[in-house]
Amino acid sequence: MESCQVVLNRKGYFFNRFLDEAYLYQASTKECTVLTGIATDLLHLLALASMDLPTLTARLNQLLVGQRVSQETVSKAVLQLSSQGIVVDSPAPFRNRSIDPSIDLVDHIRRTTAAPYFYTPYAATLFINGVCNQKCDFCFLDFDLMKKVHDSLTTAQWIDIIDRLTEAGIFFVNIGGMEPLVSFDLTVAILRRAKAAGCVLGFITNGSIPLSPEQIEILLDIDAHIGVSLESHVSGVHDDAVALPRAHERCVQNVRRWVEAGLTVEIQTVAMRRNASQIPDFVRWLDGLGVASFSLQNTFGGAWCAGQPFFSTALTPPEYQQVVAGLEDLAGDLRMDLGWDGFPHERDLSTVSRHKGHRLEELIQCSAGKTAAYVSPNGDLTPCPVTVAHPEHVVGNILTRPFLELWHDTPAFGAFRKYCADDYDSPACRSCEQFGNCRGGCLITAAAVNGSYLGGDPRCAKVYSHSERGPAGTPLIQIQSRRTA
Ligand SMILES: C[S@@+](CC[C@H](N)C(=O)[O-])C[C@H]1O[C@@H](n2cnc3c(N)ncnc32)[C@H](O)[C@@H]1O
Ligand code: SF4
Ligand code: SF4
Repeated sequence: MESCQVVLNRKGYFFNRFLDEAYLYQASTKECTVLTGIATDLLHLLALASMDLPTLTARLNQLLVGQRVSQETVSKAVLQLSSQGIVVDSPAPFRNRSIDPSIDLVDHIRRTTAAPYFYTPYAATLFINGVCNQKCDFCFLDFDLMKKVHDSLTTAQWIDIIDRLTEAGIFFVNIGGMEPLVSFDLTVAILRRAKAAGCVLGFITNGSIPLSPEQIEILLDIDAHIGVSLESHVSGVHDDAVALPRAHERCVQNVRRWVEAGLTVEIQTVAMRRNASQIPDFVRWLDGLGVASFSLQNTFGGAWCAGQPFFSTALTPPEYQQVVAGLEDLAGDLRMDLGWDGFPHERDLSTVSRHKGHRLEELIQCSAGKTAAYVSPNGDLTPCPVTVAHPEHVVGNILTRPFLELWHDTPAFGAFRKYCADDYDSPACRSCEQFGNCRGGCLITAAAVNGSYLGGDPRCAKVYSHSERGPAGTPLIQIQSRRTA
């Protein structure tokens, strides 16, 4: 046993960490186990490299502060983990490619684990193409910038990206656009690779591109979560928002076919001035279609609001809360699940898991730089979905730098990694008792409306009531790139 090399069973488990807690996501059950104590550092070391017991014991003792463990204790811990299939014998020496081979593992762990964000993102959303068949007037993406990076990578390069992400510990892979069904074969190739690595899968589509029976069969086989974006049950409202004639008819036809074929369809809707009053009727109508869930997304700022008042499209906090109250009233009468986003002070925190890491995962308003990775069509890592394809927000390219070096490059994440209330410009955020669970909401929306990334998300009632500006005020800054399409 002493000379034998052990390693995390990477076929069965994904390792993650937040401060002193380790998370083990089990691929077969999709469940997460939280571990503390010496198991945290022990599993961290074995997720990064294979090692024999004396080396593992020596490294653990370098990491542990104020205590020492004997090789016997380490051996017992390894035996227990091995009996559960969490660690295995390593047939060949293994070193994780997510950090540079010259970096000392103990230094790396010491440097990264005090960070106030997840050691590795648990999810990645890939924007695999830069064109879309719709031109939604509320879309947070910048159409001109997206077009510039369309078709940048080969399928083999996307597969390489998946391998790098999963090796770093990412276990949820989502294809986020621009429109996955424009590149059906690429979407399938990427999801298949992620499935082989044991990941949870998903994609989000506007639903207006028809699929053949063979393509539907392929999706059934892949078993991904399918999000479909639909803005209303009233065809004119949807078609007008997405700027494509008959988009509603095509989307609803697809949803019916996909549900009939046995696919699980989750509807996603952006809460806007144009659809707010229809949402209760819309949701009852959706329940009749047999979809699995309805999820309401509050409007983000982005390219769309350059030069137009944010609240001319988006709902003010009192208006949004009224829509949410309507959903709460409906919840018990429906077969499908309902979900909506809200600020921590608007949510029932008693239902949330008490684990620190889970609390962060559940409560944080914004995943940017904390829990999720976003990938532009050219393979660049970027902090958030709205910064996809924006050159000023590139952290680095996933194909050219080890992934965890990019993820821990905190200066490159800029404002998205700020975690002290005192750094914020917003008086509401600086004095907010929920700051630790929120960190200022959506920084992009804050910048678009309140003039700085740390200026407070105007969709939060606390920020809104501190704001000196009326709901239809002119944005103080303009998002850099303007839309021409
Ligand atoms: C950018 S789209 C890409 C995938 C696909 N084209 C679609 O529309 O489903 C991903 C999701 O973001 C939503 N979305 C777009 N612009 C938004 C905004 N300004 N605020 C909130 N959600 C938005 C879309 O409705 C969709 O559900
Ligand atoms: S929201 Fe989706 S469908 Fe609409 S323009 Fe953006 S990427 Fe295309
Ligand atoms: S005041 Fe700021 S930190 Fe508090 S909930 Fe609102 S956006 Fe979040």
